[in-house]
Amino acid sequence: MNQFLKIVVFILCGPLAMAAHSQLSGSAGKTDPVWNEIKGEKLQALQLKGDAARGAEAFQACQGCHRRGATGSGSGAYPRLAGQHATVLIEQITDIRSGRRINPKMAPFSDEHVLTVQEIADVASYLQALPMQSQEGGKGPGSALARGRELYARDCVVCHGERGEGNAQKFIPLLTGQHYGYLLREGALIRDEKRGNANPAMVKVIKPYSDEDLAAVSDYLSRMPVP
Ligand code: HEC
Ligand code: HEC
Repeated sequence: MNQFLKIVVFILCGPLAMAAHSQLSGSAGKTDPVWNEIKGEKLQALQLKGDAARGAEAFQACQGCHRRGATGSGSGAYPRLAGQHATVLIEQITDIRSGRRINPKMAPFSDEHVLTVQEIADVASYLQALPMQSQEGGKGPGSALARGRELYARDCVVCHGERGEGNAQKFIPLLTGQHYGYLLREGALIRDEKRGNANPAMVKVIKPYSDEDLAAVSDYLSRMPVP
């Protein structure tokens, strides 16, 4: 990697990675001492220029679960991928296949014999550009929205943003338009340190959450307007 790129990658990823330095991310997967270290195929995929048209082809292998248009399923069994930041998609796909994030259902479909590093970049470009529609999102019960809004503003907005838009450069996912069931499940995995690649600063924030708190904040997020 040339020196300029090294510096850019460091600037983009340095602060979060360093904040995470001393903290292991839990019991699942092969945990690394540094959160989201940009190396190996993750680095390669981030450097490659993705081709959305080729990505659409590669995505055919994913549609059985993530559905056409990458809407995911309303139940949240499969997350929506449409509109997600390409950097986040690359991070998650490479973490899933390295075993940092455990996902036995998807593992055979994202194996390196099935999906090349170029195809990871391609599929990320394709998915990032796909439109989102609000009616696709599986919504929560709508029973604790005030509490959810309060928690989100206090604990999450600093990273995930006012509109749940995330931050591509910092690998922070877009959360709007995501299904309630998925948000709730990931929230619990993050809290219980079972999402092997979870951001340690976030784990600290979510650790004291009760199941009711998780439900409230997920409910609120599932009803945020999509861009
Ligand atoms: C057999 C079903 C299945 C197939 C096929 C599949 N996935 Fe998945 N995928 C899942 C499940 C289930 C999850 C969520 C796991 C969890 O709850 O942590 C997931 C999660 C993801 C995530 C993480 C999303 C996020 O917001 O963090 C990405 C990215 C992803 N899949 C991309 C793909 C791509 C690209 C393909 C095709 C190459 C693919 N998946 C094929 C089941 C599948
Ligand atoms: C310090 C920054 C930070 C804070 C604070 C934070 N998050 Fe996150 N969050 C991240 C990052 C980075 C990721 C992606 C990497 C990972 O899996 O941890 C993420 C991932 C997620 C995911 C998984 C999304 C997906 O597509 O799979 C959910 C759900 C989530 N955050 C919810 C929350 C909620 C709810 C709060 C507040 C209670 C919160 N986060 C606070 C940085 C943060």
